[in-house]
Amino acid sequence: MSQVVKVGVVGTGIFAKDRHLPSYQEMSNEFKVVAAYNRTKSKAEEFAKLANLPDNKVYDNLDEIMNDPDVDYVDALLPVQFNVDTVKKAIAAGKPIILEKPIAANMKQARELVELSDSTELPIGIAENWLYLSCIELAKKHLPRIGDVVGFTHNSTGPFVTNNKYLATTWRQSPEHIGGFLSDGGVHQLALVTSLVGEFESVSALTQQVREQSGTDDIVFSTVKIRNSKTIGTFTYGSAFGATDKSVFLKMYGTKGSVVVELSDKANPVVKVRVGETAETAGAEEVYPVSQEDSFGVNDEFLNFREAVLKKDKKLFKSSPRVAFHHLACVAAFLESSAQNGNNVTVETI
Ligand SMILES: NC(=O)c1ccc[n+]([C@@H]2O[C@H](COP(=O)([O-])OP(=O)(O)OC[C@H]3O[C@@H](n4cnc5c(N)ncnc54)[C@H](OP(=O)(O)O)[C@@H]3O)[C@@H](O)[C@H]2O)c1
Repeated sequence: MSQVVKVGVVGTGIFAKDRHLPSYQEMSNEFKVVAAYNRTKSKAEEFAKLANLPDNKVYDNLDEIMNDPDVDYVDALLPVQFNVDTVKKAIAAGKPIILEKPIAANMKQARELVELSDSTELPIGIAENWLYLSCIELAKKHLPRIGDVVGFTHNSTGPFVTNNKYLATTWRQSPEHIGGFLSDGGVHQLALVTSLVGEFESVSALTQQVREQSGTDDIVFSTVKIRNSKTIGTFTYGSAFGATDKSVFLKMYGTKGSVVVELSDKANPVVKVRVGETAETAGAEEVYPVSQEDSFGVNDEFLNFREAVLKKDKKLFKSSPRVAFHHLACVAAFLESSAQNGNNVTVETI
């Protein structure tokens, strides 16, 4: 296999054109898109023009692209109810595959996908670019300074945006995936929070549907207990409100201070640290700008997957199906808890 890894793109919709292709093109020493397949062929042809693909590399079906010997790995960007079947085809063809988040449409499929991944040495990844945000490493560096993390507050709230191009996709308006936007966007937030405070053990949550266009519940307010730890916190998510500011932060409270990841201004994220055991001994607030590149983690995610493919070592890829399983399991637990009027629910494990 050459050092330029050759990618076959399946599902040439919005995110394939707006983010995956530009990322591959920015890293042309490492990647080349060599083939495409889309259910509606005209959209694959449009994509092929942008990617400079010859006509014979725009395929009519999934099997053809999976079995193309020029393709080193497949990158699938589909409504996630198709992830399991797409992985089955990739395994049958002996191709590594990375699929867009969330891992699957429900927990049964998510379990099946983890089991499929466990059954092969092929790298199988779930693209969760938030796992690669630079603020995570920066916050991790400062966390030991604040003693034991005993609590956290995560908030991701914003106004409803009607001209959102993602909202216009029919599969999002009538979601087959549990939680609709709560899983579509919420797994990003869960990737950030669980990377820093640990996996959720149990939740008490209330969810609601605010906007008809969301297709299902679109806001969640919850309390959380972290697994194997005394840490407790809150997780709030929703962009279905009336006019309000975009407010995205994770505040972690320790016995000797606090660390805040502040992402409200996506272009200028910061990590803020305060050290001191009490108000009287508190030091001044330290503010660290985060250098976040434009792809918001996607480039690093692809480089990480490339390494796993080149070294034929699936363990090298951080965003494994098992990691992504937990994020969807949290959403499933929010929904189950809410259906029981906020009863405490244990998050499913695998
Ligand atoms: N990481 C992120 O920040 C991020 C951001 C956006 C999206 N995503 C993920 O990217 C994926 C695609 O999202 P998108 O926003 O790009 O949506 P999109 O534009 O609707 O693209 C979905 C693609 O799937 C194809 N498709 C739909 N139903 C199909 C079926 N029954 N069989 C085969 N193909 C089918 C569509 O083909 P047609 O052209 O025939 O409809 C289309 O090309 C999703 O998994 C989403 O979660 C991730």
